[in-house]
Amino acid sequence: MELNLFSVELCSRQFTRLHEMPTAELSYKEYTEKFGEMTEDAQTYFANFAAHRPGITREEVVDQYTKWSETYDQDLCSSGRYHGPKIAADAVAEEFKDGRESIKILDIGAGTGNFGKEAYKHGFRELHGIDPSSGMLERCQEKNIYKKLLCDFFQRDTPGFENDEYDCTVVAGAMGEGHLSCDCLYEMIRVVKPGGLVVIVMRKEYLDYVKEYKDRLEPLMDQLETERKWQKISRKIVPNYSFNKEGVVYKFRRE
Ligand SMILES: C[S@@+](CC[C@H](N)C(=O)[O-])C[C@H]1O[C@@H](n2cnc3c(N)ncnc32)[C@H](O)[C@@H]1O
Repeated sequence: MELNLFSVELCSRQFTRLHEMPTAELSYKEYTEKFGEMTEDAQTYFANFAAHRPGITREEVVDQYTKWSETYDQDLCSSGRYHGPKIAADAVAEEFKDGRESIKILDIGAGTGNFGKEAYKHGFRELHGIDPSSGMLERCQEKNIYKKLLCDFFQRDTPGFENDEYDCTVVAGAMGEGHLSCDCLYEMIRVVKPGGLVVIVMRKEYLDYVKEYKDRLEPLMDQLETERKWQKISRKIVPNYSFNKEGVVYKFRRE
């Protein structure tokens, strides 16, 4: 597969400053011709980018994750390159101090289940997940943490979810090119109970260059607040979310 990628000048620094990689300018082939073998960090960054490349369709996203699913955990999570699941689980735990074992949480874009793994450590047990990649969900099932897993896209009126079903919905790392659309905010609000919590953790720079989100995602978040669909509890920038890049953590309370 041809991967179109990053700035030549920054690549020449041998990916020691991954957080500075901005956009797509260099192909995988050009990279290897110019700089030789890639470091493991670079390979993983390219694998991640392959699932986020500009113009990718949602079906291609699914395909990419299914191909990647065997080594995803090792490449991103246990290697310490990606901290989204822990950041998300800590954010949820901050809002639910008691009775965690009965708090019903929907993990949107659950992938291989790393949010569940972290949430379990905090005492959460009622974990459900949805993800359209069968490969990622197979890895998730092996962890034996989630009580219900749906293999589907999360979108408006997703079959299988009642109104007001969850105490909390959470998104860790499932925002990106070809991933969750802005419309999904309506669905998060539909499936969470009044007074329930919506947590979204994503790479901050996607707000600046993912077409679906640029000048759209945060204005829609604000609009939903004006319409009293939810109330923003906080918007926090966190360092070292993935590949040393900043993340943004949103928390909303459904009205
Ligand atoms: C970077 S992975 C994150 C997985 C997991 N949440 C984690 O933090 O490790 C993104 C996941 O989002 C899923 N995804 C992409 N589009 C989606 C959609 N429309 N609905 C639900 N999940 C989606 C992908 O299949 C993939 O498993």
